[in-house]
Amino acid sequence: MLDFIPIFAEQASTFAPRTDALFFFLTIVSAIITLVIFLGIIFLGVKYRHKPGEDRPSVPYENVALEIAWTVIPGIAFIGIFFWGALLSYDFYNVPEDAMEINVVGKQWMWKIQHPNGRREVNSLHIPLGQPVKLTMTSQDVIHDFYIPAFRVKQDLLPGRRTQMWFEATKKGEYHLFCAEYCGTNHSTMGGTVYVMDPADYQEWLEGGPALPPVMAGEMLYQKLGCMTCHDAGARSRGPELQGMFLKEVTLKDGSVVTADETYIKESLLDPTAKIVEGFTPLMPNFTTQLNTEEIAQIIAYIKSLGDETPSRLRNQ
Ligand code: CUA
Repeated sequence: MLDFIPIFAEQASTFAPRTDALFFFLTIVSAIITLVIFLGIIFLGVKYRHKPGEDRPSVPYENVALEIAWTVIPGIAFIGIFFWGALLSYDFYNVPEDAMEINVVGKQWMWKIQHPNGRREVNSLHIPLGQPVKLTMTSQDVIHDFYIPAFRVKQDLLPGRRTQMWFEATKKGEYHLFCAEYCGTNHSTMGGTVYVMDPADYQEWLEGGPALPPVMAGEMLYQKLGCMTCHDAGARSRGPELQGMFLKEVTLKDGSVVTADETYIKESLLDPTAKIVEGFTPLMPNFTTQLNTEEIAQIIAYIKSLGDETPSRLRNQ
């Protein structure tokens, strides 16, 4: 639809036709109202213009029925528009549970992307057709904004925070992706291509790359950096146990309670003394110089994977 007008981007996701429907509805309604008002002004201006000898004795000052009508009808219309928009927004922020997760890191001035099996790419994003895809995103430096016009989706990436966005592609092809937040000198070059492929082709593409899932890479880092000497169960309890910790409430030394989410784990790696867990001394070294943004994401993926169950290598120790 509308492909013949080049200013409209292609519709290639489940969000696209719905977003466009609301957009065109609002545009058409605004155009009709504008037209009615301005034609009315011109018509009434001509009809009731000042003329010599004109006598208009009974000017009406009040019309309750008319006033109720022009309050209630637009009121209902605006509430309807609100719910229409709210529903779209609700669906955009509610990621389906079966969505495939892809990690995105933005940095001046490129997009670094990592797939579930560890395959990486830069400034391109390969995704399967007809499957919900969730992007978990963060920035290594300043604020960027991941924007795919053909999908009608856009989300900021912030340093120190993880944001999410999801979509489901409905059409095979190649689409532009952009950075939509001014982020420095080469902001305009910070773009790339989204490749929507048949699921089978996507699988094939996926297996063509180096396969090290983020969770495994994270576990390797965990071992390499010696985290287990303090954090594993029974490791003389110098640090809080990480088993089953993710998204749990943690009580700090000062009595306050925080949720052990991704942001908290990241802060604990980069500024370990910021939030000391109750009952522990600040012994942990600072890992700022040893870990880049992707490695932090891998460690977080590993800690997430620890869930509630004790992994086999820690049992019976
Ligand atoms: Cu990144 Cu603009």
